[in-house]
Amino acid sequence: MENRELVQMMENRETPVYFYDMALLADTLDKAIASAGQYGYRLHYAMKANHNGKILQTMSSRGVGADCVSGNEVKAALENGFLPGDIVFAGVGKTDREIKFALETGIFAFNCESLQEVEIINQMAEEMGVRAGIFLRLNPDIDAYTHDKITTGRAENKFGLPMGQMQSFLHRRKDFNNIEWLGLHFHIGSQITDMVVFENLCQRINKIQDLLEDSGILLPHLNVGGGLGIDYENLETGRITDFESYFETFHRNLKLRAGQQLHFEPGRSLVAQSGILLSRVLFTKAGLEKQFVIIDASMTDLLRPALYGAVHKIENLSRQEGNSTVYEVAGPVCESSDVFAKNVVLPQTGRGDILAIYSTGAYGQVMSSTYNMRNPAETVYSDEIKVAVKKAG
Ligand code: LLP
Repeated sequence: MENRELVQMMENRETPVYFYDMALLADTLDKAIASAGQYGYRLHYAMKANHNGKILQTMSSRGVGADCVSGNEVKAALENGFLPGDIVFAGVGKTDREIKFALETGIFAFNCESLQEVEIINQMAEEMGVRAGIFLRLNPDIDAYTHDKITTGRAENKFGLPMGQMQSFLHRRKDFNNIEWLGLHFHIGSQITDMVVFENLCQRINKIQDLLEDSGILLPHLNVGGGLGIDYENLETGRITDFESYFETFHRNLKLRAGQQLHFEPGRSLVAQSGILLSRVLFTKAGLEKQFVIIDASMTDLLRPALYGAVHKIENLSRQEGNSTVYEVAGPVCESSDVFAKNVVLPQTGRGDILAIYSTGAYGQVMSSTYNMRNPAETVYSDEIKVAVKKAG
């Protein structure tokens, strides 16, 4: 949609609004599926990135699986068209109730992050008279060179089983009568744009597979998690992430054994660019040395800038021209970290203008809160609105 169409769509609407470009979402998804399909790879959408029903339905209708991190996500996946056999369930801290629900549902696999978790799942499966498919999540001790708060694959990290404990699992696995060990799982971090990081992961997995082979173990599946980054700066060229290079990196570097199925869990790369947070300017004011633009969206709608120092591109959709001014764009919440951008150049901006905060489809709306008793942002899907663009002049 063009800027003026978006502005027009916002005319009689309360802000802030999360707007989703459903055509871009479908396009992105089709490209990801086609790229992965060349090598027979299987995708599970990491629904923690965005669990809106319409987005989940878009994913399930195209046959991708779901990667869930809570019982409620498993439930939402089922309600939105994913089949139990296409669901994987991850997380370092699954509750008994969540495990029971997933066992009753008959999901494809649990991604297990500790030996104790394996024991408990085995025990509960035995009590219920079922078998549980599991992947063992290993921590491969690889630096993803991404933001500290979203790296997960370094040795001293709560995620996965430290490599050293794999032997203990191998010794004990025969005791786990109600467990079917399907494969290994890895996830080393998020917003990774350097393919060398994934190459390193592949080399590490190759070594582990060699060791397993020496012990006579051949696993039917491998899951390498998610983590593929997007371009938050260059929106035109980076509208759709380079899935080709990503999957090709695995194809070139990972030695799959005969019949072994490779799984991925992309989140951000599938949905981030389809979302735009639209907000209205409430006030402008001059500080001592800065010009502030106060908007009606806040860290309760989009936490990433406050939490990670993430930079999202911002544009003033209401004005294309006007003197360029350097602004600090801030929200109304009573926290000094409620700032979207410190030095953003916008045309001279005024009360009532509509600002677009881009690339917010992933980890945006789903990380919102009601702090300060704020209302949640409205949701608008591009395929549910009709905008008759007024003729200029
Ligand atoms: N699989 C596992 C086991 C994960 O932990 C994650 C993300 C994914 C898949 C999906 O990763 P993606 O493809 O989206 O990078 N809130 C943060 C990101 C946290 C990611 C957590 N795990 C942010 O806003 O950047």
